[in-house]
Amino acid sequence: MSDVNVSESPQQLAAEAAQENRRQRPLRIALFGFGTVGSSVARILVESKPEGLELTHVFNRDVARKRVEWTPASVEWSENADAVLAADVDVVVELAGGLEPAGGWVRKALDAGKNVVTANKKLIAYHGVELERLAAAKGGHLKYGAAVAGGVPVIPGLEQGLAGDRIERIEGILNGTCNFILSKMEEGAEYATVLATAQARGFAEADPTEDVGGFDARAKLAILMRLALRVEVDPEEIVPRPITTISAVDFSYARDLGCTIRQIARAERAGGPVAATVGPMLVDSRSPLAWSRGTENMVILSGHYGGDVVFSGHGAGGHPTAVAVVSDLLALAHGSRRVEVPSAPAGVSGEFEVPHYIRFLVRDRPGIVAEITGALAKEHINIRAIVQKPGYPQHALPFVVTVEPCRSSALKRALESIRGMDCMIAEPLDLQMLE
Ligand SMILES: NC(=O)c1ccc[n+]([C@@H]2O[C@H](COP(=O)([O-])OP(=O)(O)OC[C@H]3O[C@@H](n4cnc5c(N)ncnc54)[C@H](OP(=O)(O)O)[C@@H]3O)[C@@H](O)[C@H]2O)c1
Repeated sequence: MSDVNVSESPQQLAAEAAQENRRQRPLRIALFGFGTVGSSVARILVESKPEGLELTHVFNRDVARKRVEWTPASVEWSENADAVLAADVDVVVELAGGLEPAGGWVRKALDAGKNVVTANKKLIAYHGVELERLAAAKGGHLKYGAAVAGGVPVIPGLEQGLAGDRIERIEGILNGTCNFILSKMEEGAEYATVLATAQARGFAEADPTEDVGGFDARAKLAILMRLALRVEVDPEEIVPRPITTISAVDFSYARDLGCTIRQIARAERAGGPVAATVGPMLVDSRSPLAWSRGTENMVILSGHYGGDVVFSGHGAGGHPTAVAVVSDLLALAHGSRRVEVPSAPAGVSGEFEVPHYIRFLVRDRPGIVAEITGALAKEHINIRAIVQKPGYPQHALPFVVTVEPCRSSALKRALESIRGMDCMIAEPLDLQMLE
């Protein structure tokens, strides 16, 4: 008797044979994009020779400019994306970035049943769900462990180590540029000087808006929300607040309150709609989030059963990010099963119930505190402390009010009436306080 299962069609048998053939040979890898991360991935593949992985193609525009001596002679360098996509490769590693043309290459590869590994947070934040469905329909895998927090394995941690929990809250430092700027400002540096240093060192763009405006962090938060809170959200619904409103005086007041300031991406599910926001926040000096310095990333995931788990490390840079990419490739080579994360579309609210720090800048006159406290009381907001440091001029006097946990919408209404006061010489700065 033959071992052949006679119920399978010749096509299915051929597909299985092809898969078995693939299992027995190394995964053939095409790199799309030979920049900071792409060249680091190639470096690891060539130097460490991880078992089961073979770099076969490198695609980049003007490829002659990119060619290096240290890849094996067998590697094919190309500036023809379609030719590489049609070649005999098992995995397309997309490291060019941006929505297009990268999205088109990824769709084509998945449509052809190939696997895709990417570090492209924008593509995954905006089109991840659709691309994962395409991968599942065509029998391939889409992996993006490097898309959030670079070399910090928070995505594999969510997909595997924490899959048994029910995550209720995400708090994270997801943008290394902002963390570098704010941790230097904490030491006394001025925003503009630190930004210029970050730009000179290559980890802030000439136009830093994506980073300092919170747009980069919100894309990463949207990805984490799907994997952790199981909600598919439109990143555009998460309202980011820039770190550019923070000045030295805020660090000084924060220190007096036992805190510092970090850009935090925060999301939680508290019964009703999912709440999410990104922006500068006051962080208790004893919190691990306050310890993170420089370009470090950190994510705290709070599970219903397991409590808090902290991930931290290098969130950017060629080599750390490449480690996450190669780890995804190894997972594919080891035949890891597709991780199905059930999720459903959801709206996002900006409504949290947390304490706040509010810094006012006023031209001093009698009755200011009474008017501010009156406006807060009208919204049933309790004051926790009023702090005024000496040494500032009467015509531009900064002082701080902290309030007990209150709904974001109530505080917004109170601030709308406060900002109209004749003594206000700048927009009040309102920061959430993490406890
Ligand atoms: N760098 C990090 O620390 C980091 C961390 C986490 C995630 N990521 C993500 O990783 C991806 C790659 O980032 P990266 O820092 O390596 O970027 P990069 O240094 O700018 O490299 C991108 C490479 O792709 C090539 N490329 C871009 N558009 C192309 C096109 N239309 N056709 C052909 N080639 C194209 C670029 O060629 P040219 O040289 O001609 O421009 C460059 O070689 C991005 O999605 C990024 O968000 C990066």
